[in-house]
Amino acid sequence: MQGLRDNLVEIADGLLTDDLELVERGATGIANHPRIPPEQVQLVARELGEEMPAFKQFDMHVHDLAVEIGAAARAGDKTAAIGKFQGMIDGCLGCHIAYKDRVANVLRPAGPAQ
Ligand code: HEC
Repeated sequence: MQGLRDNLVEIADGLLTDDLELVERGATGIANHPRIPPEQVQLVARELGEEMPAFKQFDMHVHDLAVEIGAAARAGDKTAAIGKFQGMIDGCLGCHIAYKDRVANVLRPAGPAQ
């Protein structure tokens, strides 16, 4: 997720300095970020059960907004890019509040060292 963080900073920087190419680069990075491997998806699905669709929904929402931010930046529409950036951050943090710790725990179980 380090890549996502760097991309988020690129978008913010680009918006703050009117560098729409930088905005586009960061948005493209988020839109194309690597998916988690299938065996990890299974672990997450087992933990989240019926909540898995909501988790995936967060992921898709953030992905779609990243695509839209890139398109707005290409079109030179800074206002649209800013509005969508705010929505995207809500999506990042919404998923983190609801799921980050739970999912991190199944991916790297806590407990005594073996
Ligand atoms: C669908 C849910 C979801 C969305 C959406 C999401 N994240 Fe995450 N994020 C996670 C989970 C789960 C972890 C913990 C993963 C792990 O520990 O391997 C995480 C971890 C992180 C971390 C590491 C944090 C730490 O505690 O070390 C960063 C940075 C991060 N995400 C950035 C982002 C950014 C930026 C976005 C939006 C562009 C985003 N995430 C969107 C679920 C999500």
